[in-house]
Amino acid sequence: MKKIVVIPGDGIGKEVMEAALMVLNALNLDFEYEFAEAGHECFQKYGDTIPEETIKLVKKSDATLFGAVTTVPGEKSAIITLRRELDLFVNLRPVKSLPGVGGLFSGLDFVIVRENTEDLYVGLEEYTSEGAVAKRVITRRACERICKFAFDYALKENRGKVTAVHKANVLKKTDGIFREEFYKVSKDYPGIEAEDFYVDAMAMYLIRKPEDFETIVTTNMFGDILSDEAAALVGGLGVAPSANIGQKTGIFEPVHGSAPKIAGKNIANPTAMILSTTLMLKHLNKNKEATLIEKALKKTLKKGIKTPDLGGKHTTTQVAQKIREQLEEYFS
Ligand code: NAI
Ligand code: MG
Repeated sequence: MKKIVVIPGDGIGKEVMEAALMVLNALNLDFEYEFAEAGHECFQKYGDTIPEETIKLVKKSDATLFGAVTTVPGEKSAIITLRRELDLFVNLRPVKSLPGVGGLFSGLDFVIVRENTEDLYVGLEEYTSEGAVAKRVITRRACERICKFAFDYALKENRGKVTAVHKANVLKKTDGIFREEFYKVSKDYPGIEAEDFYVDAMAMYLIRKPEDFETIVTTNMFGDILSDEAAALVGGLGVAPSANIGQKTGIFEPVHGSAPKIAGKNIANPTAMILSTTLMLKHLNKNKEATLIEKALKKTLKKGIKTPDLGGKHTTTQVAQKIREQLEEYFS
């Protein structure tokens, strides 16, 4: 039995999670689900966006599904706290074309591996007499482990190339270390091509020739920016999944937030959350099940069964229901 913690969160987080569970439950999985709270509604109830009880459950789990939460200024970020507490050093963002979603390109299939624990995101900012200064922290250990993850992932997924992205011409020390560690790690993977680009050039290549890439590995902030750009290539936030992975466990969540404007209307696109469950399944070595869900999702979208953000007329529940029926057909 695998222990799966489910944190629906608030806003559309709850709706897309319900849809994703409807799909997962069509499969015969050895999962034991435990529900936990986090986010703004949780803060209103308990005065805490991420209660100790939730952190404990996530730490003991095999994997966690996270919907989305509203983040209010002044309240602690639930997801950032979880990433840090669990040392989830990888943020994995696959970029895959889907039928019927109006992406800018078709046939894309690459993945961005973003370092998740350091860089400018350590929050070391201070005011000075002239303005403010932010510190960028880059350690050899973090560079080595993120690059190693990227090459292992490429190996597992039969991807032939890993591309490092940095700005070592300007950030000579921090990104100099990142590039050095990248090529050191690459020596252990002679079957995989290693290359590197400056981030500004990469921003352009992602639009001019995105089909050239297979696995991209980069530091935290560049990964944040490039992965949103990449999501736009294949249809945007409603279809962008992600995984936060550490040594022991992982948290799987859509890239989008709680979308308060459309919350409660049953029109949120469940695709990103459903694809996040397929990342969880793959992480738990359930590749067959992950592939089946992807297949059923693609078939449903191709038939035009989709939510309004993709130009469709269907509700969140209807989309999930159709995917579920499709899955049941595979088993009948
Ligand atoms: P957002 O991702 O919630 O929404 C951005 C735009 O995309 C909106 O127009 C929204 O309607 C649309 N959208 C997003 N997901 C969609 C879906 N599944 N189906 C259809 N349309 C979708 O980002 P926003 O508006 O900047 O933030 C809203 C709240 O979410 C804020 O409190 C923010 O802090 C929080 N947030 C939480 C995240 C998380 O839980 N990991 C991540 C990003 C934002
Ligand atoms: Mg972002």
